[in-house]
Amino acid sequence: MSNLNAVITGVGIYLPDYRLTNDELSTMVDTNDEWITTRIGIKERRILKDKDKASAFMGAEAVKQLLEKTGTNPDEVDMVICATVTPDYYFPATGIIIAEMAGLKNAYAFDVHAACSGFLYALTTAAKFIQAGREKKIIVVGAEKMSSIVDYTDRKTCPIFGDAAAAVMVEATEENLGVMDYILRSDGEGVKYLHMKGGGSICPASEESIKNKEHYIYQDGQPVFKFAVTRMADVSAEIMERNNLTADDIAWLVPHQANLRIIDATARRMELDPSKVMINIQRYGNTTSATIPLCLYEWENKLHKGDNLILAAFGAGFTWGSVWLKWGYDPK
Ligand code: UT7
Repeated sequence: MSNLNAVITGVGIYLPDYRLTNDELSTMVDTNDEWITTRIGIKERRILKDKDKASAFMGAEAVKQLLEKTGTNPDEVDMVICATVTPDYYFPATGIIIAEMAGLKNAYAFDVHAACSGFLYALTTAAKFIQAGREKKIIVVGAEKMSSIVDYTDRKTCPIFGDAAAAVMVEATEENLGVMDYILRSDGEGVKYLHMKGGGSICPASEESIKNKEHYIYQDGQPVFKFAVTRMADVSAEIMERNNLTADDIAWLVPHQANLRIIDATARRMELDPSKVMINIQRYGNTTSATIPLCLYEWENKLHKGDNLILAAFGAGFTWGSVWLKWGYDPK
């Protein structure tokens, strides 16, 4: 067994400028600020308006910022793992386009497809490559143009999602830092509750598929909510128990930002004080694989070397999981 650990050494983000507020949404569908705020916890979300730009553009901007912040020579990056449900193309992988746009000439890239748990799946994959010892610098990026698959006439889904990208650098360390443990799960029972039917090999694009609005997110919210509440909380509690961590040991819960009520339930199950929970759903909504690194970016100045973080997510598949992470550096 190698004694290498995989640690996050920096975070970069990209947020589109345009803010779609609840009030503006209320002019598009039959909804209102009060419903969205109390049922989901969102006030506004960012939208990438530029038709010529998509997930790879945002991902590459986040990566460029990350390279700048960490003072990394682009030639030294060995690998890019992109988590996305809104790839620029069905193929090739969006990670490859991001690497090209960000000038990462020596990196090979691929995508992981785990919806809202995508960042946790990608981070864990990166950690395994780092621990194996060959790759030294891996960028994990979550990049999502969710507005490209949201039906803005469907009030049940359109308030939820936003566009964003965020990237982290993962490197080797012999210190007791970084990804300490993880639990990842998936369950195909979730397909019927949350999916996008059209565009894949089961239902290629056709006049029929467009007429039936099958190229948009379909979500049966209540069952997804019930599964999310129990499963995200279960794995968060489980990873603490099996590592003998109590609420006092945890500096921060970094939850996927799908619904404020799901986040609250997870924190309660962990017996965690609400002041230790990263929440920015009110400003960005659910940016799928970008939510967790977006939180890390916004809280970076409050994080200290050795802080215990629990990252937790639940999403389509179903996929869900938790990661116990020891933060790698003090505020710079
Ligand atoms: O990140 C990936 C995983 N996804 C999730 O974790 C999402 C989990 N699900 C949820 O967060 C929630 O189920 C939603 C936010 C999607 C919906 O909240 P809900 O409390 O489950 O609402 P609901 O679908 O049960 O709808 C309650 C009522 C309905 O009216 P009636 O039938 O009671 O008269 C809806 O028609 O609210 C109505 N409604 C709305 N009203 C105003 C639904 N959407 C809206 C809306 N504005 N946008």
